Amino acid sequence: MNSHATIPGHTHGPTHPERAAQSGSPLIRCERLTKSYAKGGGSITPLQELDLEVPAGDFLALMGPSGSGKTTLLNLIAGIDRPTSGRLLVGGTDLGTLSRGRLADWRSRHIGYVFQLYNLVPVLTAYENVELPLLLHGLTASRRHEMVGTALELVGIADRHDHFPRQLSGGQEQRVAIARAIVTDPTIIVADEPTGDLDSDSASAIMDLLSRLCTELGKTLIIVTHDARCAGFARRTLYLDKGRLVRTESLAQRPTPARPEVPSA
Ligand SMILES: Nc1ncnc2c1ncn2[C@@H]1O[C@H](COP(=O)(O)OP(=O)(O)O)[C@@H](O)[C@H]1O
Ligand SMILES: [Mg+2]
Repeated sequence: MNSHATIPGHTHGPTHPERAAQSGSPLIRCERLTKSYAKGGGSITPLQELDLEVPAGDFLALMGPSGSGKTTLLNLIAGIDRPTSGRLLVGGTDLGTLSRGRLADWRSRHIGYVFQLYNLVPVLTAYENVELPLLLHGLTASRRHEMVGTALELVGIADRHDHFPRQLSGGQEQRVAIARAIVTDPTIIVADEPTGDLDSDSASAIMDLLSRLCTELGKTLIIVTHDARCAGFARRTLYLDKGRLVRTESLAQRPTPARPEVPSA
């Protein structure tokens, strides 16, 4: 990836997340964040009073058993779902106060979402799949062309722009899906088990690509993974259990691999 490549962005409104980040407050702040669903006569609470701060440019991995609330947390931060109680501030915007329509608009400008099974549209080419999110933004065809080209190049798949998903390997499909997630130049990229369907070599390549979006483009990344090796790419790993945050591990705290003895001079 070219570290100098930038994705052409849009004019953002007064609540642009980067602006809040510049003011020193965390980009994402969860305060007693809770999500419940009605179930049977009662309710189920996949996320319980979670407190969390994420600075701009952080790279978080979410781990935990199935059903522990990882996707629920990701979907709240991505503005796909709305909190039941507590507060969720992203770039100073309290997402719980936005109507569904305003939340959808906010999401389309600030969030890139990567799914485990890529979710590409099978009848569209790689180029057309990546162009889709731009169609919401009222851009000219030539501007879209420029932005799609930049995104495809950033993920290293520009030569496959006219291929359909069925003509691509899983790793290539995920690259296209990442290009689609970054084409609008979002501040935050969330990925739900992005390597869950890939062999280990392709998984490493995808994790490497995702971490470069953080280190080289300054994106804030949150990924859900079951694979400790994938989590090893992140700066912090959060462990969830039964809807609660049970442990946080920073890169610096992880045991470092044994180094060969340096002979003393
Ligand atoms: N839309 C929903 N309606 C009802 N229950 C849900 C919904 N989404 C998630 N849940 C429940 O919330 C719990 C946590 O789900 P999820 O966040 O998907 O867990 P994880 O991603 O950690 O496997 C699960 O018990 C799940 O069944
Ligand atoms: Mg999940």
